[in-house]
Amino acid sequence: MARKTKDKIVFENIEVLDAGAKGVSVAKAPDGKVILIPNVVPGDVIDVQTFKKRKAYYEGKAVNFHALSEHRVEPVCEHFGSCGGCKWQNMDYSRQLHYKENEVFNHLKRIGKVELPEFEPILGSEKQFFYRNKMEFSFSNSRWLTQQEIASTTDLDDRNALGFHIPKMWDKILDIHKCWLQEDPSNDIRNEIRKFAIENDLPFFDPRNHDGLLRTLMIRTSSTGEVMVLVQFFDDNKQQRELLLDFVSARFPQITSLLYVVNQKQNDTLYDQDVKVYKGRDHIFEEMEGLTFSINAKSFYQTNPSQAYELYKITRDFAGLTGNELVYDLYTGTGTIAQFVSKKARKVIGVESVPEAIAEAKENAKRNNIDNCEFFVGDMKVVFNDAFIAQHGHPDVLITDPPRDGMHKDVVEQILKIAPQKVVYVSCNSATQARDLALMDAAYKVVRVRPVDMFPQTHHVENVVLLEKR
Ligand SMILES: C[S@@+](CC[C@H](N)C(=O)[O-])C[C@H]1O[C@@H](n2cnc3c(N)ncnc32)[C@H](O)[C@@H]1O
Repeated sequence: MARKTKDKIVFENIEVLDAGAKGVSVAKAPDGKVILIPNVVPGDVIDVQTFKKRKAYYEGKAVNFHALSEHRVEPVCEHFGSCGGCKWQNMDYSRQLHYKENEVFNHLKRIGKVELPEFEPILGSEKQFFYRNKMEFSFSNSRWLTQQEIASTTDLDDRNALGFHIPKMWDKILDIHKCWLQEDPSNDIRNEIRKFAIENDLPFFDPRNHDGLLRTLMIRTSSTGEVMVLVQFFDDNKQQRELLLDFVSARFPQITSLLYVVNQKQNDTLYDQDVKVYKGRDHIFEEMEGLTFSINAKSFYQTNPSQAYELYKITRDFAGLTGNELVYDLYTGTGTIAQFVSKKARKVIGVESVPEAIAEAKENAKRNNIDNCEFFVGDMKVVFNDAFIAQHGHPDVLITDPPRDGMHKDVVEQILKIAPQKVVYVSCNSATQARDLALMDAAYKVVRVRPVDMFPQTHHVENVVLLEKR
């Protein structure tokens, strides 16, 4: 049944059917159109009020619950619902895995349209909370007010916040007291910095007028127990900066790398910034299977390191190396996969576009006494050409781990041209992976597929595919 008020329609007694893209759930309206609804779980029976009507679907929100799904769980986080971070926290973990697996299957089937083997079961993450090794928080003098705060009678003059951006609101920050994604001392460090800054009148960033002292905070932890903290300042005020950094250093002696940046640019990305060391080293170390990787403030390192170990083991297993192979590792980052498989290969060639990452890959390989890996910088579609192959040889096995956009079509063409016996395709976006598999279908058969969950409580899913030459 449907009630109509102006453009808004309320559909009553609708069952939520599926968990769809971007963590939003899906139901069907009586007219057959899809309704996209956030913050509900498949199995809930609800009244939905639509607030947007598109050609093919509605967007709506649940305004009344008739029955709750048996797959619902109580979210552990006090910020659930306001924070955009862990949208699936209200769904039990085995169900999260079920929907992730489904998404990969549907993408490979519908977009890829390739013949598929039976999937190997999705590998869940042993840690379902506190699995991240890196978090970034923003300071703002324009705190997002929660419903409870608005309804309460407390004084709302102090609007300083240190936390996460509210989705789609660049100037509003949700103040975070406890985040369940990064292990201690992450919460302590963030909360103590906020408290000290407020007590000492250190100005939080004003995103509208573009001034203030405190801009962002990054915390990196590692399995070796090391901690990196980077505070990004806007104002170049030495006295206030040192007041805060001295406090952080004294209060948290376990910090092995205390860094700062003074950034007066429009945006707050760190990549073009001069990172200064206030105390300790400019890097921390991470370890995996006896290998050591140094991580600096700008380095990419998989953010769920214990699950990255599992992902890399699956990748190595799919590659099926015997020790005689020439392996290419495309999009190698800091060369972690290359080094991880190197013991089982004759030689590994890593390629990546970020020069700093390649410099680190080389240093890490040296520290790890690995002498059969070589690393090269360049945009893949440019550098991975005939001359490169002529110089470094035809790979027997090619591993590729591109960013979310997948591989450029010229890169796919080059793979088809040089025709390695096996391709192991690691992807964080199975939709673009499926598109690329379709391009390779005439020459390669999909022989193994295994999704891996790197990000519990979110809809993201990683997928590893083994392709073999037909
Ligand atoms: C998903 S990450 C993979 C990193 C690495 N395999 C790992 O596990 O740590 C993708 C990498 O591709 C690199 N990249 C993005 N676009 C590129 C391009 N056009 N050419 C070469 N590398 C690129 C990024 O810098 C990033 O390091």
